[in-house]
Amino acid sequence: MEVKTSLLDNMIGVGDMVLLEPLNEDSFIMNLRNRFDHNEIYTYIGSVVISMNPYRSLPIYTPQKVEEYRNRNFYELSPHIYALADEAYRSLRDQDKDQCILITGESGAGKTEASKLVMSYVAAVCGKGQEVNKVKEQLLQSNPVLEAFGNAKTMRNDNSSRFGKYMDIEFDFKGDPLGGVISNYLLEKSRVCKQPRGERNFHIFYQLLSGASDDTLMKLKLDRDFSKYNYLSLDSANVNGLDDAASFRTVRNAMQIVGFMEAEVQSVLELVAAVLKLGNIEFKPESRVNGFDESRVKDKNDLKEMCELLGIEQSVLERAFSYRTVEAKMEKMSTTLNVAQAYYARDALAKNLYSRLFSWLVTRINESIKAQAKTRHKVMGVLDIYGFEIFEVRDNSFEQFIINYCNEKLQQIFIELTLREEQEEYIREDIEWTNIEYFNNAVICDLIENNQNGILAMLDEECLRPGTVTDDTFLDKLNTICAEHQHFESRLNKNSKFLTDHSLPHSCFRIQHYAGKVLYRVEGFVDKNNDLLYRDLSQAMYKATHSLMRQLFPEGNPAKVNLKRPPTAGFQFKASVGVLMKNLQTKNPNYIRCIKPNDKKVAHIFTDSLVCHQVRYLGLVENVRVRRAGYAFRQPYESCLERYKMLCKKTWPHWRGPARDGVEVLLTDCSVPTEEFAYGRSKIFIRNPRTLFTLEERRRACLEDLATLIQKIYRGWKSRTHFLLLKKSQVVVAAWYRRYAQQNKYQKIKSATLVMQSFIRGWKARNILRQLKYEKRCKEAVTTIAAYWHGTQARRELRRLKEEARRKHAVAIIWAYWLGLQVRREYRKFFRANAGKKIYDFTIQRIMQKYFLGLKTTTMSPMDNSWPAKPYGFLEGAHTQLRRIFHLWRCKKYRGQFTEEKKAVYEEKLEASEIFKDKKALYPSSVSQPFKGDYLEIQKNPKYQKLNSAMEEKVLLADLVNKINRANGKGSPRLFLLTKSNFVLADQKTGQVKASVPLPDLASVSVSTQSDGFFALKLKEGSASASKGDFLLSSEHLIEIITKLHRIGTTAADRDQINIDISDEFLVQFKQDKVCVKFIQGGPKNGNSAACKRKNNRLLEVSVPSP
Ligand SMILES: Nc1ncnc2c1ncn2[C@@H]1O[C@H](COP(=O)(O)OP(=O)(O)OP(=O)(O)O)[C@@H](O)[C@H]1O
Ligand SMILES: [Mg+2]
Repeated sequence: MEVKTSLLDNMIGVGDMVLLEPLNEDSFIMNLRNRFDHNEIYTYIGSVVISMNPYRSLPIYTPQKVEEYRNRNFYELSPHIYALADEAYRSLRDQDKDQCILITGESGAGKTEASKLVMSYVAAVCGKGQEVNKVKEQLLQSNPVLEAFGNAKTMRNDNSSRFGKYMDIEFDFKGDPLGGVISNYLLEKSRVCKQPRGERNFHIFYQLLSGASDDTLMKLKLDRDFSKYNYLSLDSANVNGLDDAASFRTVRNAMQIVGFMEAEVQSVLELVAAVLKLGNIEFKPESRVNGFDESRVKDKNDLKEMCELLGIEQSVLERAFSYRTVEAKMEKMSTTLNVAQAYYARDALAKNLYSRLFSWLVTRINESIKAQAKTRHKVMGVLDIYGFEIFEVRDNSFEQFIINYCNEKLQQIFIELTLREEQEEYIREDIEWTNIEYFNNAVICDLIENNQNGILAMLDEECLRPGTVTDDTFLDKLNTICAEHQHFESRLNKNSKFLTDHSLPHSCFRIQHYAGKVLYRVEGFVDKNNDLLYRDLSQAMYKATHSLMRQLFPEGNPAKVNLKRPPTAGFQFKASVGVLMKNLQTKNPNYIRCIKPNDKKVAHIFTDSLVCHQVRYLGLVENVRVRRAGYAFRQPYESCLERYKMLCKKTWPHWRGPARDGVEVLLTDCSVPTEEFAYGRSKIFIRNPRTLFTLEERRRACLEDLATLIQKIYRGWKSRTHFLLLKKSQVVVAAWYRRYAQQNKYQKIKSATLVMQSFIRGWKARNILRQLKYEKRCKEAVTTIAAYWHGTQARRELRRLKEEARRKHAVAIIWAYWLGLQVRREYRKFFRANAGKKIYDFTIQRIMQKYFLGLKTTTMSPMDNSWPAKPYGFLEGAHTQLRRIFHLWRCKKYRGQFTEEKKAVYEEKLEASEIFKDKKALYPSSVSQPFKGDYLEIQKNPKYQKLNSAMEEKVLLADLVNKINRANGKGSPRLFLLTKSNFVLADQKTGQVKASVPLPDLASVSVSTQSDGFFALKLKEGSASASKGDFLLSSEHLIEIITKLHRIGTTAADRDQINIDISDEFLVQFKQDKVCVKFIQGGPKNGNSAACKRKNNRLLEVSVPSP
């Protein structure tokens, strides 16, 4: 639930002066002081915010504070500038009313700070997003830039705004900022040339000299030393708490964010430097023949540097400081300038240059921040204008007159709008309006701005009048015209009462402003109003090559000479103030009245007299009176009912019905006299603050009772809840315990029953077992007895049968013998003497027949080693012989099938076997590969056609070999061809014959015992081919090549046989040297192929991978 708070909660003094009781100046100031001492720097007068400058940073501008004030009603929280900003922003966003925030107060009262706080608050609460944030950032960053160029340290304020600023911030329908427009009013340009004691020139000069890099300063032809520049006052060049160097960086950064190009920043700085240089130009008199003095530039160095900076011809500018051309009716006249005039011209140029630069900056910023969208905008204007200024010690001049005039106008608009608003609210709320007496300063405004006889009109008239015009003639004019005005005072006035007033010097006039009397010295009024810059100077400036400079002095363009006088400064200012006032009147005003607590710019000091003075001239007490004239306090019915509903039983705790009726019931019930309040349409109006305080008092008392009641109910509720919880817990605990106890009991009974049950079952089982055992024993005894008895019977029977069988057998034997004897006796006469041999032969024949038939199972393959086992020992010799004969026979059969070529191939294979078997490790792998001979297909391949035709004989072998280079052991591919009478080495790519060696010149071939393909062809010493040296080659078909070589050597009858030398170390003759080729077993990591490497001059090492 949202907690409703009010401004009235925890108030220090009163937060709204309208509630002050009694209301007089003393109580007003006491209240301000009381609040100021408690760090409450903001106080309301209705919707007007009074802001006291705390001169120290207070923790009241944090993001949390922003959140706190966001979307809250004005009177809900303690007074704050955020509340005003929020109110203004919300009525702009939600009610579509353009707003203006008018910040007034004297110099140093905190106007600029207040305007920045308002802007930062609005920036924090309005919409977010990349584009919106950029706009916000640009709007906020325009402040440091303008402050650097338009603010200066004065006696009253270390960061005093020396120009008036009105900024319109534009929003879209959602309340997101779109952009802004800044208007500036009358920069105090006299400060450029001269500053009062204890004050400084504009910040930018000091910032540039302290903060710019050496390089930048060199480019600008400046020196870091302030004392080198006449225009800079030295006694207060360094200000406590101001870091010019850091500010310079901030300003540059801000300019970048706002959108200044680097070249533009540079141009601006160049002009600033030019102003400084201009101040250093000095003049000396030079006598002329006509007796007049003519000015001359004293030291031309600064002039030269300035001209270089701006690209102006030095002579042109120099001349402009010595002569002045006057044009009248097509006539041109040149007059000389004396030294004083030259200085006047120089200062006028500097002031104009700087003020125009400032206006250009504002225009440039406006270009960057102007809203892009063309939709209708809602506008919030923030006005931060220089404060009312009265110099006690120093005489007030034209600038103060203008500034005070502006403040006068603002005061007027304040009075008008406050009253109007008050009146409008009464009409809106349908409350009877009572007339209010207040001081209207319209009469002072009229004294200054009246078109016929106003002071500004007089001044303009004087400036435009032909003849001699001086400040004194102007004063005379004032004395005659304004003599009767009650707010105008002058010594020479016809009004006799000032004739003896010594506080009023002769050259001065005094105006009774709403904020007090101000004495103005007329000296300089005419000049400053004229704001004259000699045309020669503006033309000289226009001739500059510096583009920004030309832009600033458009009137210097000779093509556009305008003989009309430019409008006077006073006229321009009056016009712009007029426009501003019109603008402000169309908007809903919000006021911030700034008050300065002391003159020392320090915290915690509250000077009553100073505050009193400000309160008086700001008309604050009057403001309260106006506000209270009818009714001191007003509040919407809902808030009123919400706040005081506890004072009446009928409205507490809820009132069901319209809030207005509720308030009526409430007030009647509280017996508030009827004349003390009036019912508006949406608000209740309370006439007297005392009535409100009585209500507040009763509310406070009631709140205590309510607090006790709430406490009571809360305690009761808490105890009951606690009790109910305990009760509920007890039931749960009891239930759980009972369950536990029952479970325990049940478990015990169950286990006891089980024990008993098991005992009984055991006893029963044992009884049955015993019975069964007895029965079983009885049965076993019977069986044993029966068995024994049967055994006896059986044994007896067996013995009888055995006896009987023995007897029968004996009878049969005796019978057989007897029968044999009978037969032998009978047949002896029929037997032949050699019957035994015949039976023997027959038996042997049968055995042999069976043996041979058994051999039939063996196959005809010569590779088949199987042979039946010998069946009888006596056949052993025959069995082995038979096996041998049979094998020879089947081999012969097998050979008989061969063709001639196949035979030759086998013969070669046989020869290879004879040469290499068990001698070279490569051999076994070659057995299964058939010898192909022509690996290159030399007959068919067109690539080798030429080579083939070069061969005279049939090519027996053609293969690709590697010829080993003796220098590094690397191989290069060669074609190797072998015919019957020679071998040829040819180039692999071209097929060109490299070497052709007749076989008779080949002495021997050397190979290793290992699995490599290296072989050396050694030539006979002294033969024709030997001159080139031996060949060391390697081939994948080594076995075939060597076999073929050997075979050709063997078959040719007229040739010596070629030696095949198989060893792991042999010598090869390379031209002159003999090189040893050594084969070693390398690790498997060398890869699969053998690698040859030259070790030294005499050794080539071939590492062969381990098998
Ligand atoms: N709310 C604040 N919190 C802290 N310091 C403040 C506050 N308001 C003003 N100040 C201090 O007071 C100084 C003067 O304030 P500021 O420049 O706003 O005065 P001003 O009214 O604009 O004066 P001027 O008319 O000369 O421009 C500031 O530099 C700052 O140090
Ligand atoms: Mg200011």
